[in-house]
Amino acid sequence: MESVIWLVNRLQRACTVLGDHGDDRNLPTLWDALPTIIVVGGQSSGKSSVLESIVGRDFLPRGSGIVTRRPLVLQLNKTEQGQEDYAQFLHTGNKKFTDFFGSNLLSLWFSYQAMVRSEIQAETDRVTGRTKQISSLPINLSIYSPNVVNLTLIDLPGLTKVAVEGQPENIVQEIESTVRSYIQKPNCIILAITPANQDIATSDAIKLAREVDPTGERTFGVLTKLDLMDRGTNALDVLEGRSYRLQHPWVGIVNRSQADINRNIDMIAARRKEREFFATSSEYGHLASRMGSEYLAKLLSKNLESVIKARIPGLVSLINKNIDDLEAELDHLGRPLALDAGAQLYTILELCRAFDHIFKEHLDGGRPGGDR
Ligand code: GDP
Ligand code: NA
Ligand code: MG
Repeated sequence: MESVIWLVNRLQRACTVLGDHGDDRNLPTLWDALPTIIVVGGQSSGKSSVLESIVGRDFLPRGSGIVTRRPLVLQLNKTEQGQEDYAQFLHTGNKKFTDFFGSNLLSLWFSYQAMVRSEIQAETDRVTGRTKQISSLPINLSIYSPNVVNLTLIDLPGLTKVAVEGQPENIVQEIESTVRSYIQKPNCIILAITPANQDIATSDAIKLAREVDPTGERTFGVLTKLDLMDRGTNALDVLEGRSYRLQHPWVGIVNRSQADINRNIDMIAARRKEREFFATSSEYGHLASRMGSEYLAKLLSKNLESVIKARIPGLVSLINKNIDDLEAELDHLGRPLALDAGAQLYTILELCRAFDHIFKEHLDGGRPGGDR
């Protein structure tokens, strides 16, 4: 199954490189057929933090107020064991973000993760200025590492109730329609993030998710900030599905606090703290095996696999159609085509063939080719 998700990622990247939306090669249809995971929620509910812990890397700008101001399309690509981690942005071409400083003290400040974080900030400012404005134009980032699962995730600006100083009056609606345009695609999996120290009835995430996914089949409820609840209250009604029932079970999370971030508490320590929180909690102890960031990541990749499997028959016919289209287009264009565009078409054609091959083996119940 890994191999199918890997190909999905490759193909999505190829589509992005080709300019994806709205060209005449039928690729947008293909793009839309592939699932992605999207985080939705109110401002500072912990969206970027949740994404980071799923990925297991510290590279997203986080904090109070409006920090995420452009959608971030994040592709995780699993590489062979022993390979170094690196990151690439679409807007910086072939430039690789890697750890130049290894694991000495300097790496705390000059790790590729820190550099990726400042590049996201700089690229956000490039389009929106150093303001509190937002843009629906996505930033595309790929992470290559032996220690990730192959997934595509999207981080979005947070939903707000009122415009603040320096924001246009219509920003509330603008954010909402940006978010809606991403989550209404029937093929995306919605992570609806709600902070536990807020009434679930007022959750913007749940409200919007319900609007685009009334049956809740592609919505996962994530409850953050369990550590910040008022003494004497707990979130059991939500976590056990009594307050608001979703098809999938709710997952409770404890992310790093702002103080943890300021003190540079790393991901491993944060996860240990989170595990301890649930394991030693008198209220949540009995749910400990179904709580936390690591459990959420497992739940998601399992769901993704079953979604992709269910879609295999539909994808096969779509891909066969695309192979025919692409071949016709290559025939039609002949050689005068710009070298780059030609090479990209061939790459996509190759990917389509690989897809076709693997899907057929799956349908026949065989094992996928290769070991990725
Ligand atoms: P976003 O605006 O939804 O992307 O939220 P961020 O991930 O940027 O988090 C906003 C702030 O809330 C940051 O200061 C985080 O440290 C803090 N935060 C997020 N999740 C938790 C949590 O589970 N517990 C605590 N104590 N703080 C959290
Ligand atoms: Na925030
Ligand atoms: Mg954010």
